[in-house]
Amino acid sequence: MKFQTIAAAAAILCLGFTGVTAQETPIAKRQALMKGIGGAAGALGAIAKGEKPYDQATVRTALTTISTNIKAFPDQFPAGSETGDKTKAAPAIWEKNADFRAEAQKLASASDTALASLPADQAAVGAALKTLGGECSTCHQNFRLR
Ligand code: HEC
Repeated sequence: MKFQTIAAAAAILCLGFTGVTAQETPIAKRQALMKGIGGAAGALGAIAKGEKPYDQATVRTALTTISTNIKAFPDQFPAGSETGDKTKAAPAIWEKNADFRAEAQKLASASDTALASLPADQAAVGAALKTLGGECSTCHQNFRLR
């Protein structure tokens, strides 16, 4: 049971890293990208809270996942993918697409900045996560349905 849970978690992480198979819908794709980002933020959060010891490789991997996935994310909203598959995408994504892309770009820049000067201890991870987390909230407030 425990192994299955770990295997499932690993499968989700792999989706985040490698993208997805051709049959997957744009909705499934973008949700998988966000799940990867959520997992990465969770890994950083565990270090920031002291639940996990600081580990440079974990921090680098998490920031890289956020950067890679958020750059691919805005292209997963073709016409026709506005509804279905329990999507939480708000109509504003299509109505104000330039603003939506700008929000994604802000998180991409913030994660790239953090990567460039890799947070070196627990406190630095916490500070970086605070910056990144602000971008999550802003975009979710404006472009994700509750
Ligand atoms: C540019 C806008 C944007 C940014 C920035 C953003 N998100 Fe999202 N996020 C969305 C949208 C839109 C959805 C809903 C996608 C859907 O259901 O089609 C979503 C969904 C999610 C989900 C649910 C995925 C699922 O379906 O299971 C998680 C978890 C998540 N985001 C975490 C984060 C975290 C953590 C960050 C910051 C590190 C972040 N997001 C930054 C727009 C954004």
